[in-house]
Order: sequence, then C-alpha cells, then structure tokens
Amino acid sequence: MASMTIAIAGITGKFGRLLALCLLKALPEVKLRGLAREPSKVDDPSLSSVNLFQGDAFDVDRIRQFVRGADVVCCCYLGDDHLMIQGQKILIDVAEEEGVPRYIASDWSLDWTKLEMGKLFAKESCQRVHEYLATKANIRGVHILIGGFTDVIFAPFFRIWDQENLTFNYWGTGDEMWECTSYLNSAQYTAAVCLDREAVGILRFVGDVISIRNMAKTMQKVYGKAPNMHHNGSLEELSAIMVHERQNYGADFYKYVFK
Ligand SMILES: NC(=O)c1ccc[n+]([C@@H]2O[C@H](COP(=O)([O-])OP(=O)(O)OC[C@H]3O[C@@H](n4cnc5c(N)ncnc54)[C@H](OP(=O)(O)O)[C@@H]3O)[C@@H](O)[C@H]2O)c1
Ligand SMILES: *[C@@H]1O[C@H](CO)[C@@H](O)[C@H](O)[C@H]1NC(C)=O
Ligand SMILES: *[C@@H]1O[C@H](CO)[C@@H](O)[C@H](O)[C@H]1NC(C)=O
Repeated sequence: MASMTIAIAGITGKFGRLLALCLLKALPEVKLRGLAREPSKVDDPSLSSVNLFQGDAFDVDRIRQFVRGADVVCCCYLGDDHLMIQGQKILIDVAEEEGVPRYIASDWSLDWTKLEMGKLFAKESCQRVHEYLATKANIRGVHILIGGFTDVIFAPFFRIWDQENLTFNYWGTGDEMWECTSYLNSAQYTAAVCLDREAVGILRFVGDVISIRNMAKTMQKVYGKAPNMHHNGSLEELSAIMVHERQNYGADFYKYVFK
C-alpha cells in the first residue's frame, strides 16, 4: 500500500484518539495529522508522530493547512448543531478546494437513512451533511453507521444500566432490537475505511444486534442472576419527552440528553 496522509479533525476526542491509534497499528508508516483546539490534550506517547495543527472548526486558514495534501479527511467532531453542520461544511469546502478526494463525516450513528428528515433531531446534522456532500462534484462523502457505541449506551450517565441496583431501565416493549458496536471495533473499522481509497458512500457495520430483554437473559446465563427490569414508559411517551425537552433547551441537546 502506498503511503497515505490522513487528517483527523477533532483528534483530542475519545474517538479521534482511538482512530489514530488504530491507524498506526494497521499501517505503521501512515502519516497522521490532527486538528485540535488544544494540541497538548493529545498526550499519549504512542501518538507523538502525529502532526498537530492548532485551530478550531471555524479557523479557515488553519484548516486549509491541515487538509492540504491529505488523502482523506476524517471528522470526529462532537458538539452542537452549529459545529456539526456549519463546522463540517467548512471542512468539506476547504478539503474540496484543496483537492482532497474523500471526506468521512462525523456520524458513527444509528441508521439515519431510515428516518424522515429531522424526525430524530439529534441526528439531523448527519442528514444535512449527507445532503451537502451529495451536492459536491469533487469530493466523495463517506458515512459510517454503527448503531450506538456500546460503551456509551451502558455508561452510567445514560442510566439505562443502573449498576448499583442491577437494573435495566428501558422504554418501549423491551423487544426492540438495538444495534451497537464498541468504540474500539468502530475505530478499527474506520481505520480500514480510511486506508481504502475505494471506500465511499454509506457504510454499515455492526458489532451486535440485540434486545434489552435478550441482554438480560445473557446476563442471567453468565452471572447466574437476572437483572431487574424497570419500564420507564412507551416509545410515544419517550418521544413526547424528547420534543418537550428540545423546546425547553433549543438545539443544544447536551443540556438535556442525559437527564
Ligand atoms: N452512536 C453513538 O452512540 C455515539 C456516541 C458518542 C459519540 N458518537 C459519535 O462519535 C464521534 C466522536 O465522538 P466522541 O465520543 O469522540 O466525542 P468527544 O470525545 O466529545 O470529542 C469531540 C471532539 O470534537 C472537538 N470539538 C468540539 N468543539 C470543537 C470546535 N469548535 N472546534 C474544533 N473541535 C471541536 C473536541 O475538541 P476539544 O477537545 O477541544 O473539546 C473533541 O476533539 C461523533 O461523530 C459522535 O456523534 C456516537
Ligand atoms: C437504587 O438504589 C439506591 C440505594 O442502593 C436507592 O437509593 C435508589 O432509590 C435506587 N433507585 C431506584 C431507581 O430504584
Ligand atoms: C427511568 O427510570 C429510572 C428509575 O426510576 C430513573 O432512574 C431514570 O432516570 C429514568 N430514565 C429517564 C430517562 O427518565
């Protein structure tokens, strides 16, 4: 494989750093660049070879230096709609102007192609960026759909899994199928996509597809004790709460998503 230059925007994030490590493992001679507001946050000695560019998502001049000559730009931003839509459009525009052939959008999401535009507003930014990339003649978009990150879904702040009370809190019937993939597997897959010049368009990958009831059954099998199941409400009730919270907090869904 000819040497490749991969530019990771948002390299200080959990996914960006993991992706950089996976890329170096997959192809030790790969050339990595990172865009970061605070480059000192990338303090893992294994990432000392990364060429870091200090700048934020709206700093067009720095972004131009960062993307120039790259074989692919991979965006790992996470933030409000302004960052996810306007911030990504700047990266896409500048990358296209500089002749970068591919752009990997900051998705790592459930399959938003099945959603009506804006129906799940947390994923509207992915849909908007996909629409935007489709208008571009000279840069090809890549969207990696992995379901939810297993590590995030079961982190304490979501309170789906209540470790203290050994309880699953769930909405709906409990039989809905959840698509989930770990951060690590998603980063390994993304590294392979970065290194494959032919990999473009919507790419689906999933670690496991399972209902919360079947997760409980698996836990019973492994630990000899079934977790408690707590029903929070119907999917309609959940949807009504989401719409209500959105009205209270506006587009900044981080203010309410963990409530
Ligand atoms: N499907 C799922 O369950 C799931 C869950 C979580 C995340 N994700 C996806 O995974 C991807 C990465 O998420 P993550 O968990 O790695 O998030 P993260 O750890 O919060 O990292 C976010 C990155 O965005 C950067 N950033 C924020 N505002 C910026 C700005 N104005 N200019 C430049 N950079 C800015 C941060 O830089 P600073 O360090 O400077 O703040 C950081 O590098 C996103 O596409 C996200 O949607 C999916
Ligand atoms: C979980 O357990 C703690 C104490 O162990 C208790 O205070 C709390 O009310 C429990 N939460 C639920 C939702 O049952
Ligand atoms: C679901 O119910 C549990 C237990 O009462 C509670 O701790 C949790 O916050 C609820 N989840 C939401 C999103 O309301």
